[in-house]
Amino acid sequence: MNGINEGQSHVIDVSDQELDEVLDTGRFRATCEMHRISECDAISICVPTPLSKSHEPDISYILSASKMVSESLRKGQLIVLESTSYPGTTREAVLPVLEQTGLEIGKDFFLCFSPERVDPGNKNWDIKNTPKVIGGITTDCLLAGRAVYERFVDDLVPVSSTEAAELVKILENTFRAVNIAMVNEIALIADRLAVDIWEVVDAASTKPFGFMRFTPGPGFGGHCIPVDPQYLAWKMRGLNYRTRFVELASELNAEMPKFLVEKVRSSLESRGETLEGANIMIIGVSYKKDVGDVRESPALHVIHELLSSDAKVEYHDPYVPELQLSEGLSLSSVTLTDEILSQSDAVVIVTDHSSLDYSRILDSSSILVDARNATRFLSRDSKSLGESWVVKS
Ligand SMILES: NC(=O)c1ccc[n+]([C@@H]2O[C@H](COP(=O)([O-])OP(=O)(O)OC[C@H]3O[C@@H](n4cnc5c(N)ncnc54)[C@H](O)[C@@H]3O)[C@@H](O)[C@H]2O)c1
Repeated sequence: MNGINEGQSHVIDVSDQELDEVLDTGRFRATCEMHRISECDAISICVPTPLSKSHEPDISYILSASKMVSESLRKGQLIVLESTSYPGTTREAVLPVLEQTGLEIGKDFFLCFSPERVDPGNKNWDIKNTPKVIGGITTDCLLAGRAVYERFVDDLVPVSSTEAAELVKILENTFRAVNIAMVNEIALIADRLAVDIWEVVDAASTKPFGFMRFTPGPGFGGHCIPVDPQYLAWKMRGLNYRTRFVELASELNAEMPKFLVEKVRSSLESRGETLEGANIMIIGVSYKKDVGDVRESPALHVIHELLSSDAKVEYHDPYVPELQLSEGLSLSSVTLTDEILSQSDAVVIVTDHSSLDYSRILDSSSILVDARNATRFLSRDSKSLGESWVVKS
């Protein structure tokens, strides 16, 4: 909070200069003094929505934020939930907390759901030019929500209810989860057929209609794609419906880190070495390239698989200096030198950060498993025909 008020941005997509400009207007301040919520006409709630230990939605952050808002709620205020959650959250969980004040929805205060659609690190699409979906509890709620968001979003997409807006977000992320899992399954199939999956995806992507490119990899990660479909699955279990695509996508996703580790194991064994006791260098541990977020990152699963096979693991990630693996177990990013690379028994590219020198990584590694095809533009003489993942062995 103090950093923000001093012009230091902790959000990669917001520069210090942009933050300074907004602070200079005198109309933006970060604060933890929750009673000041009463000074605002519009309140947006965008708190985390993780999964509990039993893999169920944890909406406790939404509930506690709603409670804080209710303590300062006054007539005329608009509240917009932006956290991703299961359909029904705004009406069934947030509204009752706000109504406990005795104020009336659609008359005294207004409540909407408008999902956060930000894609961290995306240089082309930001909050202004990404169309924003919004649904209200009542027609007047939607009108109030539109009046606020139309001021800074180019294209607002109103839908008829908060449930519709909630399901839009879950559809978007389930679509990604299912398609990534599907292309990963094709990758597993291609491996058994000794066909290079990257070549197949590239060629299929030339079709100008009816195909959308998804690329295989170590599995999907982050705090949205693996998590959000589980919110839907939980909600539907309560309605006696099994979300089969969601289940299958999670199942396939969990296979990818194991598959990669098996690639490392078989490459070592073909040299007469074993995974047990081998030094493995992981390149990139964040859940996607050019960000430092490791939540639900597939790299964590790859590392756990390696450690459970008694391999020794080091990693390099310019965005992640420390990596907490479990309570009491953390690793630090090592500096990538030719020596460290050549001393590793195998190197695994899990996340393909743009700033890394893949030519050097390829040259200095003895075994290189590339889960992102980061080395595609380099000459990979030792890659065998049809092999998608082991680019040097
Ligand atoms: N980050 C993204 O790229 C992104 C994209 C789309 C959707 N979302 C969704 O947006 C929501 C927030 O995600 P995030 O990554 O910004 O989370 P985050 O972990 O960065 O937390 C967001 C903020 O909530 C604050 N917070 C936590 N608990 C609070 C509480 N009880 N009361 C008040 N404030 C509290 C935190 O201090 C933080 O500033 C999630 O539902 C996520 O699924 C995020």
